[in-house]
Amino acid sequence: MDTNNVNEPMKMQFDIAHDDFIRAGEASSKIKKMLLQLGFSGRVIRKVAIATYEVEMNIVIHSWGGTLDVEIDPGSITIIARDRGPGIPNIDEAMQEGFSTAPEKIREMGFGAGMGLPNMKSCADEFFIDSVVNKGTTIKMIINS
Ligand SMILES: Nc1ncnc2c1ncn2[C@@H]1O[C@H](COP(=O)(O)OP(=O)(O)OP(=O)(O)O)[C@@H](O)[C@H]1O
Ligand SMILES: [Mg+2]
Repeated sequence: MDTNNVNEPMKMQFDIAHDDFIRAGEASSKIKKMLLQLGFSGRVIRKVAIATYEVEMNIVIHSWGGTLDVEIDPGSITIIARDRGPGIPNIDEAMQEGFSTAPEKIREMGFGAGMGLPNMKSCADEFFIDSVVNKGTTIKMIINS
């Protein structure tokens, strides 16, 4: 079967490891390169790049590890991040600009402004978050092209 069939969505999957700051950001940069190759607009690529980078970094920093799935269709890009981890006890609070539980060590690396989740939400046309304490977090974002 032709894997480049235009009628088939393109799918990419990445494993994201906890605390791996060497590889952190690789998944989002590969997704960005793919969208550039496929000819998506700069506006769409920027939104996907921000949303995937923020969700990837949250898995690295706040979870125990997870996966990032991306489905690229001509009209939309769907991003699903699933992790195992402590989960988010209060989602409304976590969604607020400036809320962060990042420890000092992480803040020294330049993270922990509490802007990742609000940025994801503003980049996404559709944003869903589900989290279970001591199990993990799932985030689904759809960005229309
Ligand atoms: N995947 C996750 N697992 C567990 N907790 C999470 C996860 N993602 C976010 N959180 C919680 O939600 C808070 C807010 O997340 P957000 O991405 O907005 O900010 P941050 O990661 O702390 O800082 P920044 O993204 O600006 O570097 C986090 O500090 C953390 O407590
Ligand atoms: Mg974050």
